[in-house]
Amino acid sequence: MRTSRRRRIATAGLLGASVFGIAIVSGLVFVGAQGHGEEKRNQPQSAIEKAKEKGFDGVDFSYDLFGAPSGQSTAHIAEEVMRKDMADKPRVMANHAALLQARYTLECKTQTGAIMTKGKPQPIGPTVQLKEGMTWDKLSHISPEDIRRQKLFPSGFMRLPHVKHEVGGQVFPQKQVEQFPRLQRFDVDFDLPDCFLPEFPPPIFLTTHPELGDVSQGEVLSADNFDRLFRGLITPVQLDGLRMLVTQFPQEEFNLTPDRKSPKPSLGVACLDCHVNFHTTGQFHLNPDTRPQRDRLRLDTVSLRGMFNQQVHGSKRSLRSIEDFTEFEQRTAYFNGDPIRAMKKGMNVIDRLQVAHMAQIQNMIDFPPAPRLDPMTGRLDRARASQQEIAGEDLFFGKARCVTCHQPPAYTDHMLHDLFLERFGAEADGPIKSFALRGIKDSPPYLHDGRLLTLEDTVEFFNLVAGLQLNGDEKSALVAFMRAL
Ligand code: HEC
Ligand code: HEC
Repeated sequence: MRTSRRRRIATAGLLGASVFGIAIVSGLVFVGAQGHGEEKRNQPQSAIEKAKEKGFDGVDFSYDLFGAPSGQSTAHIAEEVMRKDMADKPRVMANHAALLQARYTLECKTQTGAIMTKGKPQPIGPTVQLKEGMTWDKLSHISPEDIRRQKLFPSGFMRLPHVKHEVGGQVFPQKQVEQFPRLQRFDVDFDLPDCFLPEFPPPIFLTTHPELGDVSQGEVLSADNFDRLFRGLITPVQLDGLRMLVTQFPQEEFNLTPDRKSPKPSLGVACLDCHVNFHTTGQFHLNPDTRPQRDRLRLDTVSLRGMFNQQVHGSKRSLRSIEDFTEFEQRTAYFNGDPIRAMKKGMNVIDRLQVAHMAQIQNMIDFPPAPRLDPMTGRLDRARASQQEIAGEDLFFGKARCVTCHQPPAYTDHMLHDLFLERFGAEADGPIKSFALRGIKDSPPYLHDGRLLTLEDTVEFFNLVAGLQLNGDEKSALVAFMRAL
């Protein structure tokens, strides 16, 4: 409680006391109420109360322009916020860069032959750093309890925060911002180097036209070109759905109100700004499902390839249809799960008819080709696979037990699983969707928040978390198998 009072007063100081008079008054009233018994303050606080104190309780900005008292100019306050955010930006980005440096070796290593579908080199790891003197092999022989007690769990295996976690919101990679300057924020930049991101633009594969291969023609699907690229290839219903997917709609950071993070007023973001060409290039935001603010999970945009073969959607929400996810993406995620802010900034209620159109086109997008998989089983065609890939498949379906949660053909079990990382002293993430591994070579970084930058890191992660004690050859084989998926 004391923490929250301090934060409110600090916030008020930041923006001019008069705007936050109410906050200060409530703070003082609160002090008065607490003055009753000194002994109360010494009582151990319950874990629940402590959790609530970690951060804001729902409204994620430390100001609310819409609440400016009469006589105050919202435009003026917005300018002040922008000036302050811009002044803070170098410090915010430097702090985050230091955090990344401490967790990872950010060298862009590549390997001949290890490429994504259109030829971008896959990033090669592991990039996660170990404590001085530790090796992956040594670590895998230490019990979870000892790892927790001696704080040996690599920091790169822990939650990856947003570049500015206390504010959060959608952040787009530099390459995309260069092509679409409307996606630039004034308060933060994207954090990860381009070599750890998917191809830009990613290829698009239609389930209705496998013979055509990539139908993107190397372009980023947008309002400018979707009709030219897709008319005649898809049905009128799907074309209308696609039109909606490339149309910008208001959201928390990009909108037409003064309370936004783009220098100029913005019509908003389109679904395919994040799910570029129905895939992803690493755009991230915070999940709308968790509070307080500090506990919200960073979310790395997931691919929409192969949606037709997946039955739960969202890392935590577990929605059961693409229709529902389409509708609620805008109603909840765009505005941080806060319906009031949605209404203030321009909530867009999509008619169910259009929702159906948008869902239908999403369900027409295929995974990239995987020529070494047997069409009948989704497993390796052993006549075409390398020895190393075969060894990896044997491990995946055997000793390494990956198949428990990643089953062919999409390599998911359509469930959420709790990996209980708190056993190792990390923050508990709770149950998360077992993401599909088909086409996984195309979508670094990995896990819901992108904390693992390469497939090698994912193998080290599961080796430790599942207590597998794999040797070096076995780890390389598992990676080789995943590259073939
Ligand atoms: C900020 C970028 C962003 C925008 C804009 C965005 N999404 Fe998403 N989308 C995500 C992220 C991140 C996830 C993963 C959510 C999670 O794990 O809970 C996701 C998940 C999804 C999923 C579920 C995938 C699965 O099976 O788990 C669907 C479907 C989807 N988005 C559709 C849409 C549609 C339709 C729109 C436009 C209305 C949209 N998205 C706009 C980032 C975005
Ligand atoms: C108990 C179920 C379970 C098992 C067993 C399991 N996984 Fe996973 N896997 C998950 C879950 C859950 C996630 C998502 C975790 C997260 O995002 O925090 C995941 C994520 C992944 C990802 C990242 C996917 C993405 O899109 O970012 C890879 C790669 C992966 N698993 C590979 C493996 C390998 C290799 C094995 C075997 C060594 C394995 N998994 C065993 C449940 C499992």
